[in-house]
Amino acid sequence: MYPKDSEALSTLALTPDAWRVERVQEIDSTSSELMRRSKSGRFDPTLLVARQQTAGRGRQGKTWLSEPNQALTFSLGFLFNPKDWMGLSLAIGVSLLKAIDPLGSLKLGLKWPNDVWHIGPKGPAKLAGILIETVSNTSHPRTDASRYCVLGIGLNLFTPKSSGFEGQFPQPIGLLEVGVDLNEDELLARILAEITPALSRFEGQGFKPFRSDFDRLDLLKGHEVTVNATPFGVAAGVSESGALMVNTPSGLESIVSQEVSVRPSYIWQ
Ligand code: BTN
Repeated sequence: MYPKDSEALSTLALTPDAWRVERVQEIDSTSSELMRRSKSGRFDPTLLVARQQTAGRGRQGKTWLSEPNQALTFSLGFLFNPKDWMGLSLAIGVSLLKAIDPLGSLKLGLKWPNDVWHIGPKGPAKLAGILIETVSNTSHPRTDASRYCVLGIGLNLFTPKSSGFEGQFPQPIGLLEVGVDLNEDELLARILAEITPALSRFEGQGFKPFRSDFDRLDLLKGHEVTVNATPFGVAAGVSESGALMVNTPSGLESIVSQEVSVRPSYIWQ
């Protein structure tokens, strides 16, 4: 069943149609489900899509909320062995944006480290979020340093109407409202066509080949930012490895931890 070791090193010579695609009506969380499967030794490259999640998870232990059938919620699970994991969420963000807006004609951008935002007349609104989790592959015969990676993406298709979203910053916005009218199959096909080769590129070369695209899409650059709600400095782009660079009163600082909350100051007003 498993690839031979010589092949295993290049698992991500995957083609977009090599993913096992599974769709479910309802699940707690597509990412939690793939994590559970890995614990019973299931590591095959899988795309799991849910119409509704009852316990969707976001970064920093937050809940990811979506109304039934109103968001594309899915996770990709695969063995992955990059030399450096830093910058993966940025590379995925770049690929996701290329899939959604190939011409770059919509007012979409990336908010370090893992959000896709739309900048409209009323300010920023969140279109999508990315959650990356990994676990060791001890029950898999691969002997390299690869880990099982679960890449979860929540992409709002419609702007939520229920009151559960009040108080979120920025407010969520749907793809239809930003000008993209694609059905779920078209979206998934486009996303897989972008993300699959991007994963191979990242596994071989890290964040470097994605940096110039990220730079073009970087929504924080040039803006004052707060870190964990405290004023910090002016964002100055990302480094070659994907760290957020910030000009502070005490010099140029780099932020590497994905666990800190970085916001442009204007949305705290
Ligand atoms: C974030 O913005 O904090 C990341 C949100 C990630 C949400 C997606 S939805 C599909 C997958 N399953 C989850 O429970 N979370 C991710």
